[in-house]
Amino acid sequence: MADLSVNVAGVEFKNPIIPASGVFGYGREYEEFYPLSKLGGIATKGTTGTLRTGNLSPRIAETPAGMLNSVGLQNPGIDTFIEKELPNLLTKDTVILANIAGSTPEECAEVAAKLDKTDVHMIELNISCPNVKQGGAAFGTSCTSAEAVTAAVRKATSKPLVVKLSPNVTSITEIAKAVESAGADALSMINTLLGMRIDVRTRRPILRNNVGGLSGPAILPVAVRMIWQTANAVSIPIIGMGGVSTGEDAIELMMAGASAVQVGAAIFTDPYAPIKIVDEMNDFLDAQGIASVRDVIGTVQPW
Ligand SMILES: Cc1cc2nc3c(=O)[nH]c(=O)nc-3n(C[C@H](O)[C@H](O)[C@H](O)COP(=O)(O)O)c2cc1C
Repeated sequence: MADLSVNVAGVEFKNPIIPASGVFGYGREYEEFYPLSKLGGIATKGTTGTLRTGNLSPRIAETPAGMLNSVGLQNPGIDTFIEKELPNLLTKDTVILANIAGSTPEECAEVAAKLDKTDVHMIELNISCPNVKQGGAAFGTSCTSAEAVTAAVRKATSKPLVVKLSPNVTSITEIAKAVESAGADALSMINTLLGMRIDVRTRRPILRNNVGGLSGPAILPVAVRMIWQTANAVSIPIIGMGGVSTGEDAIELMMAGASAVQVGAAIFTDPYAPIKIVDEMNDFLDAQGIASVRDVIGTVQPW
């Protein structure tokens, strides 16, 4: 058995695999399949200051090697999360990353301040959501607004702060550096890539929201590239994700520079995907004679 434990920003994970935000709810539906303690951690559904109902349906479209979603930030609001969901999650002997979002830096900071008073292990700030004060462009698409929202949340909490980057940018490394300078303890990447599909018979977009986020195996190479570029540009650790569905995919993101790995869309086709991936990583490491998964982090040897 290889040593699968990793450390991200001072937090110990028993293995590197974490169901990604938005595909695992608050864990309740998956407890029936396996003990959640088998997971390295759990990233919870994005939570905002108050209840949100999300976007209108249809909110999911299939794509070659992936899926588009426009679920939006459907969630019960931070107070309900803290009261009804977090206490159950904190009994599961796994690292809990509370994923948060908001329409303004103030809303994000207010949500983080409430979590600061709980025993949650890490806060993951999603900066792919629209900033209403800046005309609706996502916080994560400009250095100035990415830096401002990170700084506001940093002031509100002393919990380890992971900032989740949007891939829908020209230069991922510039955004990553801005977020690092504003006080993030770690980065997670990548969120979904903006996409669109059209029903050619009705000439209507398949998603009621017209556009949505692409995830699944189709985006793995984009994630590998962005993680590799970012790992070479910042000194804080990276939690990688994007298209991972096998143990070797997860190892690939770690070789690109990730210290841990989240699994998203793959869980929709197989709820056991995260624990299978943990086993497959172990098999790979054993077959290669590698004693610790930490020994593969950032080891790609570029030409
Ligand atoms: C249905 C769905 C809902 C999502 N909701 C969130 C969310 O609330 N917050 C967030 O930061 N990311 C959200 N994501 C993005 C995922 O956490 C992940 O970054 C992305 O799907 C890429 O990983 P994957 O290819 O393994 O799915 C969502 C993804 C999907 C498919």
